[in-house]
Amino acid sequence: MKDKQRQILVTSALPYANGPIHIGHMLEYIQTDIWVRFQKMRGNQCFYICADDSHGTPIMLKAQEKNVPPETLIEQMKNEHERDFHDFAIDFDNYYSTHSTENQMLANIIFEKLNERGHIKKRVIKQLYDPEKNMFLPDRFIRGTCPKCNATNQYGDNCEVCGATYSPTDLINPISAITGKEPIEKESEHYFFKLYDFNEILHKWTREGHLQNEVTNKLDEWFEAGLQEWDISRDEPYFGFKIPNTENKYFYVWLDAPIGYLASFKNFCEKQKIDFNYWCNPDTSTEMYHFIGKDIIYFHALFWPAMLQGSDFRKPSAIYAHGFLTVEGQKMSKSRGTYITARSYLNHLNPEYLRYYFAAKLSAGIDDIDLNLDDFLTRVNSDLIGKVINIASRCSGFINKNFDGKLSNNIHDLDIQSEIANASDVIADAYENREYSKAMREIMTLADKANQYIDHHKPWVIAKQENRDDELQSICTTGINLYRLLALYLKPVLPTIAKNTEEFLNIDPLEWKDSKKMLLNHKIEKYSPIMTRIEKKKIEDMITETKNNNQ
Ligand code: MSP
Ligand code: ZN
Repeated sequence: MKDKQRQILVTSALPYANGPIHIGHMLEYIQTDIWVRFQKMRGNQCFYICADDSHGTPIMLKAQEKNVPPETLIEQMKNEHERDFHDFAIDFDNYYSTHSTENQMLANIIFEKLNERGHIKKRVIKQLYDPEKNMFLPDRFIRGTCPKCNATNQYGDNCEVCGATYSPTDLINPISAITGKEPIEKESEHYFFKLYDFNEILHKWTREGHLQNEVTNKLDEWFEAGLQEWDISRDEPYFGFKIPNTENKYFYVWLDAPIGYLASFKNFCEKQKIDFNYWCNPDTSTEMYHFIGKDIIYFHALFWPAMLQGSDFRKPSAIYAHGFLTVEGQKMSKSRGTYITARSYLNHLNPEYLRYYFAAKLSAGIDDIDLNLDDFLTRVNSDLIGKVINIASRCSGFINKNFDGKLSNNIHDLDIQSEIANASDVIADAYENREYSKAMREIMTLADKANQYIDHHKPWVIAKQENRDDELQSICTTGINLYRLLALYLKPVLPTIAKNTEEFLNIDPLEWKDSKKMLLNHKIEKYSPIMTRIEKKKIEDMITETKNNNQ
């Protein structure tokens, strides 16, 4: 354990502004939020930064469809996203938008630096063009017959039937998904980032402990295939930033998206009077971590460090990738009612159930994670209600009724108290290493022990006997102290329960080092249920709502 206060900047991937947040996204924001809350409880300086990813063709087209300017659409989406995050207790220090002056400025600075140093080149390429809509078509807006297996109605870059990947110009009978017209081939000059200029640096960087091993191995395939040039420009019409000194070329959304991390942080620094340059220069002692899904590794582990390297910014300390969420063993599906938006979930269920369930399943790897709804119900009810909350409700009644809310001045069983207090380092390591499932297992084992302790001493029996008041009080005081430790350990995952617990126990916000303390001779408040069980009906209602939304 380091004693010195660390300075840590943490990000989650920036969600696209063209759709709602769903529970798949939530896996990432919950994973990150837990880590940030843990760091803050440890006394580190830690900032959690995010933003909406507001640029690109899908957003432009969606705004046209709704007949509003893109600026209006992205503002609405940002408000919705922020509400969803807030209601899931995702505690960003700053939530911004990539469509901001800070981002434009930083994108220009980075582009110009790269350009000056010869890492950008221009080249004319041929692409499919919609002659009616007068625009170049991104791959996903082209449909046609797979050149390999002849399946019809496939996307422009890959076939969902046979898995082949190809170039859109290879599709048989391509049509524009926007107008249904046959696209024509058209030439245009594009800007390319010469990723291969950074081959050596990246090769080294990807094996210096900044990435998970599985990720490094995945990248090896790409290194072997040879790093390619990256097309960073798009033609008009586009919703994004114009490339400096051009008439009608825009930065591709993925160029300014990661820069959006820094732009949101810069915006935060200006408000908080924090020295942005100190955090962003290549020699900084501060740390920067990006939590991302495994689908966007290429952008974060290759393009992004190369862009930063080439423009004299600090590189990430690490990239933490996670797997994908499946529901009932399958990809989330609108027709099955498992494409659950954050809002639909919140309409029926307590967000902390899901935070706990994800924590109980998350490890540091990139394996996919399944939400099985029966398992979800059983696990949350038996662990949180049956094991943890139960301790508070079993012990607080006696303290309130028999002792006027006052805890005794001694712990009845110091062995169990220290056993649970001493687990603090192991649990902290598990959180630090993103082994949340291990942390949850550890905590539930402790909760089992706490329950065994109470079962063994049976305060409800003692309460009926004469002259055993002191014993009753100190047994329940021990129970309350054990509960306090469990709530402390679970605080990164269950911030609302922790807050209710702090109110119930009448204590200051719990910090990690408080595990060394005991609560004695102290008046607590009356207990009111801190969390209730999941009812099956609520889950069914959520699925029904989700199905209806997608009809
Ligand atoms: N806008 C880009 C990220 C730019 S970061 C500079 C993007 N947006 S996204 O909305 O599609 O995804 C946001 C994050 O959510 C990504 O890290 C993505 O991997 C994650 N997830 C999206 N669907 C997911 C699941 N079903 N399961 C787990 N994570 C998922 O990508
Ligand atoms: Zn095919």
